[in-house]
Amino acid sequence: MSDIKKYTQANREAWNEAMPHHQKSNADKWDIAFSDKGFSVIKEPELSLIESLNFQGQKIAHVCCNNGVELMSLKNMGAGECVGFDISDEAIQEARERAARVDIACEFVQTDAYDIPEKYHDTFDIVYISIGCLGWMPAIQRFFGKVAALLNEDGELFIHESHPFSEMLPSDDLDNVDPMKIIEPYFKQEPYIDNDGIDYVGKTTYKSKSMYWFVWTLSDILMGIIDNGMKVRHFSEYPDDISTLHGKNQESGPEIPLSYILIAEKE
Ligand SMILES: C[S@@+](CC[C@H](N)C(=O)[O-])C[C@H]1O[C@@H](n2cnc3c(N)ncnc32)[C@H](O)[C@@H]1O
Repeated sequence: MSDIKKYTQANREAWNEAMPHHQKSNADKWDIAFSDKGFSVIKEPELSLIESLNFQGQKIAHVCCNNGVELMSLKNMGAGECVGFDISDEAIQEARERAARVDIACEFVQTDAYDIPEKYHDTFDIVYISIGCLGWMPAIQRFFGKVAALLNEDGELFIHESHPFSEMLPSDDLDNVDPMKIIEPYFKQEPYIDNDGIDYVGKTTYKSKSMYWFVWTLSDILMGIIDNGMKVRHFSEYPDDISTLHGKNQESGPEIPLSYILIAEKE
């Protein structure tokens, strides 16, 4: 097994294990929400920026789409063909079943991001990446190589992610630690290995299969994009925690960078 596969397969199993925990608290909520025609989870500051791409009618790929609620929202807002890719069998099953139930025409494909089939290459106007994707990728350069391959010649990449700066700070579940104290390195060579579960939805903990989270610096991300033939044309940083892990940092006083939006276009 290649090094990449060793990590992504472990993460696949961990995500399959996690999804029933998320579904316990969330599944009905999304069914009710999406029964309202036109429902969307996309909010500011993302909303204005994604609208600036004139995405209506455009073909969108969502890599790491999880249960598909963001992609289904984009579809409800007028996107054209929509395809979501995710490694978790359980997440894709939930996405497919809900899309069918509420009659939203999105395609959902279970695949490792690194293995997205070639038939999808050169076909997308927009590749959309939202909170909590890049850290699951064991090789960021190769990941952005796949993103570039998915885009058509005028295609654009849209990322709304947690800021790498926040990786240095304690997450909310750590008690008795100053939330503003730097406790982790910015330049982290090895992945974090976690066995405490990822129920950031219901906030329960469980003994989980090992999952591997990689910290990519801003320069890793920017160079991964640039080296794969894309030009960054927008970058903005925000003091908002979009991860649900750094609420204490957001509330603690000084405004620090907790999230960012980046738009790049194929050169
Ligand atoms: C935090 S969730 C993304 C959540 C999404 N933004 C949301 O809020 O629902 C991360 C997702 O990445 C997926 N993932 C992890 N590694 C992957 C890989 N190698 N290829 C494709 N998807 C992957 C997981 O299965 C999971 O659904």
